[in-house]
Amino acid sequence: MAPDQFAAIVAATAQDVDTAFDRLLAVPDDPRARLYHAMRHAAMGGGKRLRPLLVRATAQLFNVDLVQALQAGLAVECIHVYSLIHDDLPCMDDDDIRRGKPTVHKAFDEATAVLAGDSLHALAFELLANNHVLPDPFVRSSLSHALAHASGPQGMAGGQMMDLVAETTPFDLAMVTRLQQLKTGALISFSVEAGAILGHVPPEGRTGLHGYARDVGLAFQIADDLIDAEGDAAIAGKAVGKDAAQGKGTFVSLLGIDRARAQASALVEQAHAHLHGFGEEADLLRAIARFAVERDR
Ligand code: IPE
Ligand code: IPE
Ligand code: MG
Ligand code: MG
Ligand code: MG
Repeated sequence: MAPDQFAAIVAATAQDVDTAFDRLLAVPDDPRARLYHAMRHAAMGGGKRLRPLLVRATAQLFNVDLVQALQAGLAVECIHVYSLIHDDLPCMDDDDIRRGKPTVHKAFDEATAVLAGDSLHALAFELLANNHVLPDPFVRSSLSHALAHASGPQGMAGGQMMDLVAETTPFDLAMVTRLQQLKTGALISFSVEAGAILGHVPPEGRTGLHGYARDVGLAFQIADDLIDAEGDAAIAGKAVGKDAAQGKGTFVSLLGIDRARAQASALVEQAHAHLHGFGEEADLLRAIARFAVERDR
């Protein structure tokens, strides 16, 4: 896929996500306004929107309606943004800048940040329960189940717990891989799975996509660790150099920069190999895999 074609799809997805959040998060004229402003601050105007893009790319393999793909993409983006708000809190990573803006607890306050995260968590499932956009009850329940699983202790939240433990306990490569698969991989895998669920693909038809998602998820997190190790905060839109300062076990701390980078590239090749059963309709997924590691933000 030509770079400008890929850039256009990325931009269109980001625009769709922003427009939808603008509509979903209209600020009420009452004391809850502060909460809505905080949710808008976090959810709008930034981020690569990789997860909605993955839903869209997988859904398009199966000719799924774009509006349905966007609905599932918004749901996973809500969980992702909530995870970022909480990840940045003083009790977790204690960060001041996210997506090039002050973090929610800096722009507002800690209590508002906790509530904005809680509210985005709830909004995710409200979106998946929408029977106008997603009329098939099997699709609604499968998406809800998969997103709940990917968000909780067997997914993102479990990975965040391991990540905190990794500050004080030495983790080997197998443990770091497990940590990253939960912390970052679970929501990325959900995004791919969502496209297959929307396309009514039976589980036995999803094997290649599962492999693709697992490899892209790991590669994406290695890239995040590389950006933390040697990236530019102004470009990344967030602080860098924190993992080493906190003594955190990551792919970079265990493998070193060069081997981590080689591992990320190998994972992209492997992700591509998992798509061998698809033709050019999977070119967007192939481009996303490359983008996951060749990024600087
Ligand atoms: C950052 O995620 C946190 C991780 C899970 C590695 P992204 O790199 O997708 O952040 P945004 O959405 O583009 O800001
Ligand atoms: C955060 O991981 C992952 C989640 C929010 C689930 P990091 O702490 O590495 O993400 P950044 O580097 O702050 O974006
Ligand atoms: Mg963190
Ligand atoms: Mg962090
Ligand atoms: Mg990081």
